[in-house]
Amino acid sequence: MKNRIVLIVLFCLLISPSFAKDGYKLWLDYQSIENPNLAEEAEKLFEGIYFFGKNSTYEVIQKELELASKGFLNQNPEFKKLNQNARLWIGTRSELSQYLGLDHQAKIKALGEEGYWRGPLNQEGESLYAIIGNTPKGVLYGVFDFLRSIQTGTFDSNSEKSDSPKIKLRMLNHWDNLDRTVERGYAGFSIWDWHRLPGYIDPRYIDYARANASLGINAVSLTNVNANAWVLREDFIEKVKVLADLFRPYGIQVFLTARFSAPMEMGNLETADPLDTEVKKFWKERVDLIYKEIPDFGGFLVKANSEGQPGPHEYGRNHAEGANMLAEALAPHGGIVIWRAFVYSHEIDEDRHKQANLEFEPLDGKFMDNVIIQVKNGAIDFQPREPFHPLFGAVEETNLGMEFQITQEYLGQATQLVYLSPMWEEILQSKTYRPSPNSTVAEIIDGSATDKELTLMAGVSNIGTDRNWTGHLFGQANWYAFGKLAWDPYQNSAEIAEEWINLTFGQNPETQRKISTIMLQSHEAAVNYMTPLGLHHLMGRSHHYGPGPWVEGGRADWTSVYYHRADSEGIGFDRTESGSNALGQYASEIAYNWSDPNQIPEKFLLWFHHLPWDFKLRSGRTLWDEIGLHYDLGVKTAREMKQQWDSLHGLVDEEQFSHTSQLLAIQVQEAEWWRNACLLYFQTFSNRPFPDDIEKPTGDLEYYKSLRFPFAPGIKPNW
Ligand code: GCU
Repeated sequence: MKNRIVLIVLFCLLISPSFAKDGYKLWLDYQSIENPNLAEEAEKLFEGIYFFGKNSTYEVIQKELELASKGFLNQNPEFKKLNQNARLWIGTRSELSQYLGLDHQAKIKALGEEGYWRGPLNQEGESLYAIIGNTPKGVLYGVFDFLRSIQTGTFDSNSEKSDSPKIKLRMLNHWDNLDRTVERGYAGFSIWDWHRLPGYIDPRYIDYARANASLGINAVSLTNVNANAWVLREDFIEKVKVLADLFRPYGIQVFLTARFSAPMEMGNLETADPLDTEVKKFWKERVDLIYKEIPDFGGFLVKANSEGQPGPHEYGRNHAEGANMLAEALAPHGGIVIWRAFVYSHEIDEDRHKQANLEFEPLDGKFMDNVIIQVKNGAIDFQPREPFHPLFGAVEETNLGMEFQITQEYLGQATQLVYLSPMWEEILQSKTYRPSPNSTVAEIIDGSATDKELTLMAGVSNIGTDRNWTGHLFGQANWYAFGKLAWDPYQNSAEIAEEWINLTFGQNPETQRKISTIMLQSHEAAVNYMTPLGLHHLMGRSHHYGPGPWVEGGRADWTSVYYHRADSEGIGFDRTESGSNALGQYASEIAYNWSDPNQIPEKFLLWFHHLPWDFKLRSGRTLWDEIGLHYDLGVKTAREMKQQWDSLHGLVDEEQFSHTSQLLAIQVQEAEWWRNACLLYFQTFSNRPFPDDIEKPTGDLEYYKSLRFPFAPGIKPNW
């Protein structure tokens, strides 16, 4: 009997996935330290930790240090008294003031509320290591950075580091519905278990908060921008309160989406007119009620008068009147309104590209100080590549925040490996020429160009109930990179990738190099096989997944054909003066340069120009040939990515390996599908042969057109 049990245990150990990495731990997988010197240094510190105060944030730091110590050293940390040989000091500047020189104090103070300093401190000949913030939250960020330096093997007890965020609100936007479906979510259901809240606390909430705090993400809005008024009901506020209480020690503030028509749906009013006294009263009471439960509630995120959502326009009021009404209710509590500039309505006859500027530019200076206008990175809708949104730089008096999309709605969802950081970096580094000639989008976002303090970067979350959180393991890299760029929008995508790879796959240089190569070429590859040379919105209309450059469902308004405008003469959307003149919404330097098809960066060519198929590009090739080459290059790069990855067999964990290898195989097929479908379709207009040096598209255009995705995640089936 005993032998049998031993055998069973041995067998279970052999097949047990306990060593496999299923992705749940994200980048917080504290593995045993291999370098003996580092292990020795870490041990000294973990054996003598002293906290200079007591608060709920220090409690969560303590738990994190326990987890880390067990992972790094296989031992519990020791929390000591100050005179008991404590070597790792943790506290705020004011708590440690008697041990810090004036210069040192001034240096830390200058880092602001959320900044931290960590480094060696000499006290009476004893060498110590201290992590000091101006607030417990700063301390928390310092501790996570300290732990990360041990994970990546870069910790050095003799060197110091200080850091502070450049953007005030670093926020995730969940597009999560109350029934737990997730709009454009591809990683399972919503992690918010509304049904079992407030009574049941899923341990995921804590791990979610840890992951965010480790990146400096300090705000989350929990619900879909296509909002449900129910979340403002008392019973839901009680549920939200539980999450807010859990997140508070991690420095995370909770926001909700507010449905503009809530006064009618919940308050039995006849109107939601923002200037109506009863409506104002409704919101004030609702807001007061929320703050009673959640004193540090962040405020509301609002999508109004866009894609059918209710808003102030119904009552002849503008966005400023709508936003300010909510802002007035929130202001006494320190809350803010994040009002989205993504306004799409079928009523207007203009190029969709222009709508946000048309509606918001005239309102510059009319929004209250506690309102931020949240602008998508581009004017259309999170396309694989977009030029930066022309609102950046167009308004001076208005707080502007950035909205990036982490969930890969238009970029292969959770099936394809597309590292988004280079795309975000491209946007952030774009020159706006306004308000000053050298301004960039990053400088507008962090307020340095506009002298604004209420700054924001939001990312539409890619998180769900999948064991690995993001569906595709590499989706984690996008969550990670978003957090890093929100902290510092000047960071470099290659460095962020390197750090994430180090934390996820370990320190083998060959592994790191190969994975980094894969990640850094993945975005350009996707652009090439989906929408090269400034083409956009070519995907299937409802699922936004595969190619659909043709008219679907018999309607041509605002489908792919509206955007690519292919005809027998040529292709592309004329947004110059001879067309919609959306270019005129940019600074004159851009408008001037980009209106010349020979000057504009070729990556935006067909975004702004309708050109003949035989138009000559800088390569000397015709537009038609160049389109073919780009699609083909996208497929070739996808294949290379797969080959690179497969050469890592044995070098990365088996579960990580096979997950990614299988998904890359699908990605290759889908890259071919995009290329074939788009090229075969465009050839019906261009009527030209494919260039000699590309792999010829195969397949049947009619078959591609007939493909449907009724079960694609993230959408409601359209039967
Ligand atoms: C896109 C997306 C919608 C979403 C909208 C928004 O259009 O497909 O699902 O609601 O953006 O950002 O509001």
